[in-house]
Amino acid sequence: MNTYSRVPITLIEGKGALVYDDEGNEYVDLVAGIAVNVLGHSHPAVVEAIKEQASKLIHCSNLYYNEPQAEAARLLAETAPGDLNRVFFCNSGTESVECAIKLARKHTGRKRFIAFEGGFHGRTMGSLSATWKPEFREPFEPLVPGFEHVPYGDLEAVEKKMDDDVAGVIVEPVQGEAGIILPPEDFLRGLRELCDEYGALLIVDEVQSGMGRTGTFFAFEHDGVIPDIVCLAKGIAGGVPAGATLAREEVAASFEPGDHGSTFGGNPLACAAIVATVKTILDEDLPAEAARKGEKALRVLSDLEDDVEDVRGRGLMIGVEVGDDDTAETIRDEALKEGILVNVTSGDVIRLVPPLVIEDELLEESLEKLVEITRNAL
Ligand SMILES: Cc1ncc(COP(=O)(O)O)c(C=O)c1O
Repeated sequence: MNTYSRVPITLIEGKGALVYDDEGNEYVDLVAGIAVNVLGHSHPAVVEAIKEQASKLIHCSNLYYNEPQAEAARLLAETAPGDLNRVFFCNSGTESVECAIKLARKHTGRKRFIAFEGGFHGRTMGSLSATWKPEFREPFEPLVPGFEHVPYGDLEAVEKKMDDDVAGVIVEPVQGEAGIILPPEDFLRGLRELCDEYGALLIVDEVQSGMGRTGTFFAFEHDGVIPDIVCLAKGIAGGVPAGATLAREEVAASFEPGDHGSTFGGNPLACAAIVATVKTILDEDLPAEAARKGEKALRVLSDLEDDVEDVRGRGLMIGVEVGDDDTAETIRDEALKEGILVNVTSGDVIRLVPPLVIEDELLEESLEKLVEITRNAL
């Protein structure tokens, strides 16, 4: 269907942070499937895990237990702080948000949600109701009732909306689709306090920011808070479609069999990929790598500071706001010609979310080229 405007190349193969098209052109991939390929393309650990699992058991439904699902749940629960110990597996980011919405309503018995301007949480009807952009929402109304949006970073605005019918506050620790927007320093802590005061749940959407990308495994760890519910997807299985909703024990206990489910969620094949991906992220300390490489990247890009509106980021989640939509597209197209894949989000922001395993030299070289391309386009 006519749902995507695509860059006119066909990718057929990839290794690490490099991808190749059907005409033999090589690209440095600074998009990584929109923050999905955290381990780069076809990482041997993921490939091996898929091959081995595929030869044993691909699917068996959630009528039965399967070993990779248990192992994936154990790894995620051990990695998450506090008692974020319960996991529901699904197949995408939007589904992980749907689960969070249903769980918050069931647990609190309340109806309302507070979400944020600029926020993106997916495109199915529940998550779309939490998503902010009117162009995404309006053609599909009526949406799920009860969602209200307030300015990102504005605790006072949140407090004004709080009452004893708010089930949850849903927030991205760094807004991705909005153009890599970092909140004020005490924002998540303030949200945690407000949620505690009013008995609402703090739902943190880590679909884009999680899996080590911002320099910690979960981006909320920068803020020293523990959410009630966490949404994961994108990088969770190194490129295999998968998602997960994590919840604190007491919250998760409100779901009973039949309340929620997924035919494919938690299937052995995807879970084997989750296990391989999470283990590799932890074994190779990729969050620390993302932090180190992110600083390096910002140093290179700081050359542009006087020419563009803003250069910002946390770890390997970086945005260059060029201030004009056409210029951003020109930069993307010129970068493509020079063998670099970048993505434009929020109209005028060049988004850089490369694999966490990208080699230092490749990252530096491609960003230096990008600086030059950007200067020429401005
Ligand atoms: C923060 C966030 N939440 C949810 C989603 C939806 O994920 P998916 O496209 O896998 O449904 C996205 C996708 O970009 C996202 O960035």
